[in-house]
Amino acid sequence: MFPATTPRNLVIETERLVLRPVAAVDLDAIVLGIGDLDVSRMLARVPYPYGRADAESFFAATREAAGRNIALTILDESGVIGGLGLTGLRSEREFGYWLAKPAWGKGYATEAGRAFLAHLFEEAGLDIVRSGVFHDNPASLRVQAKLGFERIGTHMVRCLARGRDIEHIDTILTRERHSALAGRG
Ligand SMILES: CC(C)(COP(=O)(O)OP(=O)(O)OC[C@H]1O[C@@H](n2cnc3c(N)ncnc32)[C@H](O)[C@@H]1OP(=O)(O)O)[C@@H](O)C(=O)NCCC(=O)NCCS
Repeated sequence: MFPATTPRNLVIETERLVLRPVAAVDLDAIVLGIGDLDVSRMLARVPYPYGRADAESFFAATREAAGRNIALTILDESGVIGGLGLTGLRSEREFGYWLAKPAWGKGYATEAGRAFLAHLFEEAGLDIVRSGVFHDNPASLRVQAKLGFERIGTHMVRCLARGRDIEHIDTILTRERHSALAGRG
């Protein structure tokens, strides 16, 4: 079961962060954050270099896909620091995220991911969420392990920023496992 449309006003608050729908005012910060090759090389569908036109296309696509995808901006007290979302709400349900480099290493990805997954499983009623990482992204693999994701295999995925296929570790998190881990506190 999944709601027919994603609430346009979905806002999730954590101890240090706010997650809210991506907005036009975020685009400059998105260009700055994703425009860094250290970020884009870990994402599959982001070109490098990444400019304003790319961010505008992304924003337009999120509006067209409203109801099928969720695209949230992550903010801390300094403003926009990253993004997170889910594509293919009715099929693949793939969880993705990024943070601008100055925001790395503070536990933000885990904090944002934990709150987002709680929303997906406990409020939106999803049964399974897929994700994964390129094989050379141990920080993100660690984030997913902390969130409860389990490895299910590997396959080659095109990385636009690197211009080649890269081995991708596929992961999933089921509602049952999420509940079991949440129950453990
Ligand atoms: C991956 C990313 C989201 C992590 O964000 P973050 O807020 O720094 O992550 P957290 O602080 O919540 O957790 C990172 C964990 O990885 C660990 N880590 C960091 N670098 C590591 C490395 N090179 N090897 C192993 N573990 C590493 C940290 O120690 C931490 O684990 P711990 O809490 O057990 O100490 C961020 O680096 C990023 O945006 N990278 C570029 C885009 C990207 O990779 N997106 C995800 C695509 S799958």
